[in-house]
Amino acid sequence: GKVCLAYSGGLDTSVILAWLLEQGYEVIAFLANVGQEEDFEAAREKALKIGATKFIVEDVRREFVEELCFPAIQSNAIYENVYLLGTSLARPVIAKAQIAVAEREGCFAVSHGCTGKGNDQVRFELSFYALKPDVKVIAPWRDPDFIQRFVGRKDLLDYAASKGIPVAQTKAKPWSTDENLAHISYEAGILEDPDTTPPKDMWKLTVDPQDAPDAPEDFTVYFEKGIPSKLVAKDQTSTDPVELFLLANKIARRNGVGRIDIVENRFIGLKSRGCYETPGLTILRSAHIDLEGLVLDREVRQVRDQFVTPTFARILYNGYYYSPEGEFIRATIPPSQVTVNGQVRCRVYKGGFYVLGRSSETEKLYDATAASMDELTDFDPVDTTGFISVQSIRIKKYGEAKQTKGEK
Ligand code: ARG
Ligand code: SIN
Repeated sequence: GKVCLAYSGGLDTSVILAWLLEQGYEVIAFLANVGQEEDFEAAREKALKIGATKFIVEDVRREFVEELCFPAIQSNAIYENVYLLGTSLARPVIAKAQIAVAEREGCFAVSHGCTGKGNDQVRFELSFYALKPDVKVIAPWRDPDFIQRFVGRKDLLDYAASKGIPVAQTKAKPWSTDENLAHISYEAGILEDPDTTPPKDMWKLTVDPQDAPDAPEDFTVYFEKGIPSKLVAKDQTSTDPVELFLLANKIARRNGVGRIDIVENRFIGLKSRGCYETPGLTILRSAHIDLEGLVLDREVRQVRDQFVTPTFARILYNGYYYSPEGEFIRATIPPSQVTVNGQVRCRVYKGGFYVLGRSSETEKLYDATAASMDELTDFDPVDTTGFISVQSIRIKKYGEAKQTKGEK
């Protein structure tokens, strides 16, 4: 039968491709273009040389930006206060495209190169089963024969040599990466010691903040219903979602914005250290958070912050994008964003993000006159005396009880 393999062109998935052929399967190699800076043509040549029947690349960048990155910005999604979910966001789009290819090509199974200890195996496989419940999944890194045979990197290299699989001449980096339009991740290898500072040359997307330009760079982000609709930079203006995201990346990257280092809790229960660069998403999300201060109702914000933001982040992280709760939580995002219209003037400077000002032509929740300390208008400050005295009923009881018990 035919198997659709998520193929990256790297050593692991090349060995997996050869191993699947050895098991007697026919292999369709699939590569999703989610904006990673990689040589797709080299991957094609390699897959076909190893023996794949076909090599299929699908450009899913637009869907990635519109369906995943923008809702993440609208909901200010963040995992454990630090991680902006770059890898988690791409998985549903990649899985969907892989299943579509598998169906088109008549594959009975799909395969991937995720390890048995990570989050990605869960994300991919839950997505596969939601989209094609009868699909068979081949996960070599959980296959007893495969893992017995390929214990270390040397086994992979020896096998590659025996099969005539070309291995990139560049010395393998002592960490593993995953890249897309939103971010790049660095994990494993020397990073497994959480006290090891990453070497300066690890970071690929952003310039070191210390080496960033000495002059700040200003730009304006426009939002419609919480979605970035226009980005005006010094040298370019973008309204197309993908172009806009790329422009945000460009601004952030050249100014060293978006580096993250975290010890996070994986879904399966292990702690794991990860370093990430999330350039454009960092500035778009920060600008969005700022605009909400001006235009979002206080209680809508409170409900959203308490329930939607953390729940959506956890659902994305744990791989439940395609699930009843995933559908439900996604549906709550647009209604929270109907008033999030306006623009934020921003500055980046040596790794930092700053807001210079914000405004909205349509939303009038913020009333400078009402809030002013210099104005007395239709709002009577005397009324606040009653407001405070009612609020204090319970607080006075609390104080009295403390006094009675002799506590301070
Ligand atoms: N720890 C991050 C996450 O779970 C990044 C995972 C990177 N995946 C990879 N295959 N290298 O989202
Ligand atoms: C992997 O284990 O394949 C990468 C890391 C992860 O999925 O969390």
